Amino acid sequence: MKRFTLLSLFAGAGGLDLGLEMAGFETLVTNELEPHACETLRLNKKMCATGDGTLDTFIDTVLKQRCYQQMTKEESAILVKRLQHRSRDKFLQSAEVFEGDIRQIESKQLLEACRLEEKNELFCVAGGPPCQPFSRAGKRQAVDDVKNGDLFFEFVRVVRDLRPRWFVFENVKGLLLTKTEVLTTTCKTCNYSGPIPFRTRIAWGRGEAETFSCPQCGNHDVTVNSQLTRGGSLDIILAEFERIGYRCYHSILNAADFGAPQIRDRLFIVGSRDHLPFTWPAPTHREVTKNGVKPDPQLPLFGPNSTLSNLKPWQTMYDALWSHGHFRYGMLDKRKAVLWVKNVVRPHDEPVTWHLDRPSPTIGAHQGAKLAVAPEGVPEAQLKRQQWHTRGNRQGDTKPVLIIHAYLSDEELLRLQTFPPWWYLHGTRMQRALQIGNAVPPVLARAVGTAIIEGDNEGSPKQ
Ligand SMILES: C[S@@+](CC[C@H](N)C(=O)[O-])C[C@H]1O[C@@H](n2cnc3c(N)ncnc32)[C@H](O)[C@@H]1O
Repeated sequence: MKRFTLLSLFAGAGGLDLGLEMAGFETLVTNELEPHACETLRLNKKMCATGDGTLDTFIDTVLKQRCYQQMTKEESAILVKRLQHRSRDKFLQSAEVFEGDIRQIESKQLLEACRLEEKNELFCVAGGPPCQPFSRAGKRQAVDDVKNGDLFFEFVRVVRDLRPRWFVFENVKGLLLTKTEVLTTTCKTCNYSGPIPFRTRIAWGRGEAETFSCPQCGNHDVTVNSQLTRGGSLDIILAEFERIGYRCYHSILNAADFGAPQIRDRLFIVGSRDHLPFTWPAPTHREVTKNGVKPDPQLPLFGPNSTLSNLKPWQTMYDALWSHGHFRYGMLDKRKAVLWVKNVVRPHDEPVTWHLDRPSPTIGAHQGAKLAVAPEGVPEAQLKRQQWHTRGNRQGDTKPVLIIHAYLSDEELLRLQTFPPWWYLHGTRMQRALQIGNAVPPVLARAVGTAIIEGDNEGSPKQ
């Protein structure tokens, strides 16, 4: 039987891996630097293999760990209930968790860890390196040279060395939107034009001499131009993948369009070594406006393939999290409750107040999200003004009121991200929030994984 083997890089809490496994992939190795995230992966693998008879012993051991010693009784009771969930799928069962800095790991070490038989090739390499869009003009050296700037190149290196049939590269949509200085070379001999190799760009940024030749004809007679381009970071990344022979497809997908109760746009690049055709998955959900489901411009309005007959409305936060009540506040009145989201690392960023009958806004790695319930009749403007200041000590023309509020629990955050509610997260509250806020929602990864398998089946020669 065909195996859709996976090497996962920058795995974090495993959102991308989980979704790809849901689509039928089998993770062989999963690499991650951060020890808490590695422990998340290891312990979930172990928990998935643990039978109900020994689950209580497993949970006892978990609770004795240092990161849980500060937990209140209520918090540990909630954790135990979450982990005791009865039906657990068996994720990551073939996966070796390879802890370490990818910059120090040779591709052949990863391949050995995959334990593939000689006749079997690796099907896919997937990962989402932390990567800020590259610099704007004038700041090239400062930004290109930071420790995260070239992590994407580690991903390219592993793909170049192991040559999987497919790769999935996932990242922030800012790569497509931010203006970036692109250095383009033009060959005087064959007229080739494209971004200069990334390594050369970095070397030049550091003031180190490095020459290069035309990638098409090998001639050294090339000129270099600099241009500030919107989406230039993506151009630079795509050029590297194309340089190693992959045909690339890219798109921004919103997790809410695939059933997540969260608006979360991610940029995906899918690459095919054999230049197979690939089609992006079609959304299953659509935004609902006052006039009904917002039409998909790609689909006809009426008929069997119409927008209206195919798509479900976006899932709301209320339905996904609180339709049976909140664990502390009971049944919620949607006229009184809102979600407050605030960036806890950049406190001056404008906080967000969000209605519960929508998918949540993006909950990033550094965002704190609280459910806030106000007394009857507090005007919306005041709820907004009081954000995060629960006693209302911000200036305004209405008297402050006391608003009850609670940080979203691990389970609520996991549900917004479409992880199974029993997924174990290792570490302190901040470390857990970081892992979950960094993740790709598994429903989104599953849709991309399914599309790759379909593309591979259609493109491969029939047996
Ligand atoms: C955006 S998160 C990935 C989230 C993951 N794809 C998911 O769906 O859960 C990026 C991850 O890369 C890891 N990372 C950062 N630098 C690394 C390095 N040098 N080597 C390996 N992993 C690294 C971070 O610890 C972080 O967990």
